[in-house]
Amino acid sequence: MFSDRFDWDQDANALSLLLGDKQRRGERVVDLTESNPTRVGLAYEVDNILAALSQPGSMEYAPDPRGLLVARQAIAKYYRERGAPIDTDALFLTAGTSDAYSILFKLLGNPGDEVLIPRPGYPLLAYLVRLDSLRARFYPLRYDSAGGWSIDLDALQALITPRTRAIVLINPNNPTGAYVKQTEWQAIDAMCRRHDLALIVDEVFYDYGAGGAAGPIAAQQDRFESLTFVLNGLSKLMGLPQLKLAWIVVGGEFGLSSAARSHLETLLDFYLSVATPIQHAAERLLDRRHAVQRQILSRIEVNSRILEERIASTGNCRVLQREGGWYAIVDILDMVSDETRVMHLLKHDNILVHPGFFYDFNREGFVVLSLLPREDIFRNGVSRMIGRYGHT
Ligand SMILES: Cc1ncc(COP(=O)(O)O)c(C=O)c1O
Repeated sequence: MFSDRFDWDQDANALSLLLGDKQRRGERVVDLTESNPTRVGLAYEVDNILAALSQPGSMEYAPDPRGLLVARQAIAKYYRERGAPIDTDALFLTAGTSDAYSILFKLLGNPGDEVLIPRPGYPLLAYLVRLDSLRARFYPLRYDSAGGWSIDLDALQALITPRTRAIVLINPNNPTGAYVKQTEWQAIDAMCRRHDLALIVDEVFYDYGAGGAAGPIAAQQDRFESLTFVLNGLSKLMGLPQLKLAWIVVGGEFGLSSAARSHLETLLDFYLSVATPIQHAAERLLDRRHAVQRQILSRIEVNSRILEERIASTGNCRVLQREGGWYAIVDILDMVSDETRVMHLLKHDNILVHPGFFYDFNREGFVVLSLLPREDIFRNGVSRMIGRYGHT
């Protein structure tokens, strides 16, 4: 009856089953994975957001497959302010980044074609690739305590086959928090050119550089010679995932990017999935992005410090270097398996953390934490986790 797209194990994993049991019993769980920004006590400018969404222009339906010009101008202004001017004609709006990925996979691949994605990385991505009948192949990211994270360029190159259609970069990556380095950009742009591949760059966490520092922004249109698609949206940029506005910036070699724009217009015309009120609201919302970004950045900084301080007193735990994004990775050196650790923490201590294997780390020992929970909740959860697994 149903398509082969569902041929993976869809049973809930042991961790979510246990969590569901605890929630049904009304137990209070300290959720150190919470990364829904609307649930962590941020002070949103509610009146401004709601007023922006109720502008009179929203009563007219005037569909444009690229998205309304007012919204594209607002997004172009955001990039101008980031020092990366782009053309409004290069912008295509979608309801979310997931929709943007799906549109791009339809644009670039035939069933069975391959897309190269980072490992460890954003767990949803491999499923998005598969739902569009493409095959995800994983290129490794390496960590060393001196230089932090880097892309294994030789391994990436070795994965390219005649069926490869695109390389996905997450800048900065989830959950490693690493920005793509200048040398990596150059090498990967050259690789894409050599093998006729497109470059898809997800920059949803771009504005959250640790200590205000960020790597180079991909959206700058003259950066690349290969065909490039840069993704971002209000979900992370403004902590407003429920408003459903994201976008694709098309860049790279002129002939290819012009053809891509034309195909994207055709594709998006079949869906027209972005609601009108959010398009009219875009400028007013983006103009106020700093109000929420400041709170998120400060939350991340405080929680990072709490984590570093708590871990400094242990001899067997370390926090991996983080350049940006919303997550921290703790490496715990002991003989406990990931599965045992996360189940034990939830079962006995009511603390929820993500095991490294959710993100496809290459070995056991990693725990991934969201840095968004309220500071008191974060401190309490981290102290208890380290109390159990940290030793001097
Ligand atoms: C790397 C990355 N891209 C995209 C998204 C989701 O974005 P959206 O809400 O726009 O679909 C996430 C969500 O966690 C993410 O981690």
